[in-house]
Amino acid sequence: MTQKNKPLEFDTLFINANLATMDPNIDAPYGAIENGALGVKDGRITWISKMCDLLDFEGEEILDCEGDWMTPGLVDCHTHIVFGGNRAQEFEQRLNGVSYAEIANAGGGILSTVKATREMNSQDLYQETSTRLIDFLYQGVTTIEVKSGYGLDMPTEIKMLEVARRLTEDHVRVRTTFLGAHALPPEYKDRPDDYIDLVCDEMIPKIAELDLADAVDGFCENMAFSPAQIRRVFEAAKKYALPVKLHAEQLSNQGGAKLAAEFGALSADHLEYIDEDGVKAMAKAGTVAVLLPGAFYYLKETQKPPVDLFRKYGVPMALATDCNPGSSPITSPLLILNMACTLFGFTPEEALAGMTRVGAQALGLKTETGTLEMGKSADLAIWGIEHPAELCYWVGDVATGYRIFKGEDKKYE
Ligand code: NIG
Ligand code: FE
Repeated sequence: MTQKNKPLEFDTLFINANLATMDPNIDAPYGAIENGALGVKDGRITWISKMCDLLDFEGEEILDCEGDWMTPGLVDCHTHIVFGGNRAQEFEQRLNGVSYAEIANAGGGILSTVKATREMNSQDLYQETSTRLIDFLYQGVTTIEVKSGYGLDMPTEIKMLEVARRLTEDHVRVRTTFLGAHALPPEYKDRPDDYIDLVCDEMIPKIAELDLADAVDGFCENMAFSPAQIRRVFEAAKKYALPVKLHAEQLSNQGGAKLAAEFGALSADHLEYIDEDGVKAMAKAGTVAVLLPGAFYYLKETQKPPVDLFRKYGVPMALATDCNPGSSPITSPLLILNMACTLFGFTPEEALAGMTRVGAQALGLKTETGTLEMGKSADLAIWGIEHPAELCYWVGDVATGYRIFKGEDKKYE
């Protein structure tokens, strides 16, 4: 492979790095290449090898990693990071025994964030979100999915998606998701089908026309929307060739994951209450299971997602922060890796795959990012650790030394 007569050319060459490539074709834990080198040209990975296979090279910049570990940039494939206000008082209420569903049914929960988000102007919403995003960038995130769903009216849903799109200014890849079917807005109280009409007949067409969303999501639950209502939303999305995904089986088994699979969804998310049939349907459709231990932890759930069934049927498992002001006020992707191991029984390798390779798959970005492989975007994180399991092991003590997005090391203070 090495061109013996001509020196290899790179914009940047990382040397003396331990590479956790997460490439499933490399037969080693974490797809590891110890004592390796990785070259970048024009924002793409153009070379990966052991140091000893690196012969003659020329480069603008040579970075000696001194034995640090390099991983793919992290992919957080499920967030609600754009929101106004916060719900610390509901957290207190829940600690006093009031349930998430009781708070929601009394007009709090998602609807209290809807009120705060509607009231906030676009610039302030961007500023607050951008500040929140810094934590993710410090922990190596190079791709983030961002949902709407705290507007539940046309202007606020558009405002949220525009803010989400603007986050690319913060040097990160953003995938936006329209989540109009998140909760029933107060002005449609007792008229859920009329609200679904609005989502399907007005919101989805407008958002598609403005090209503001890369996917469409919904919340299928007793306290939100029924499978029949979500089916209508998915049909509308299909008309505009928008991929779908679903909050499914979080608090009860509604058959949402099966419905998502029927529509070839990119992912079904949460899934604590999914049954074996649902898992089989996901396996058949190639739908990724996105597990969200942050929400499980905050809501003090006891029913765990059936990790063994996902393994048995070969359903790929992604992990995400679900960053939101209600069920998962978490801005630390690494904490999620830890929780997946301690709460859900993931191995550290499965956890890291869940927030790199499989996270990318859940966003339809499998060929672009999520592993260290030739030809992919040079989205990298370099960590001062001695073993990749440390990314799941420490809570509160690891930040990236370098975070490289599309080959560039941009500061984000
Ligand atoms: O993913 N489950 C529904 N949606 C969010 C929670 C939103 C909220 O409580 O504000 C979730 O957990
Ligand atoms: Fe969510």
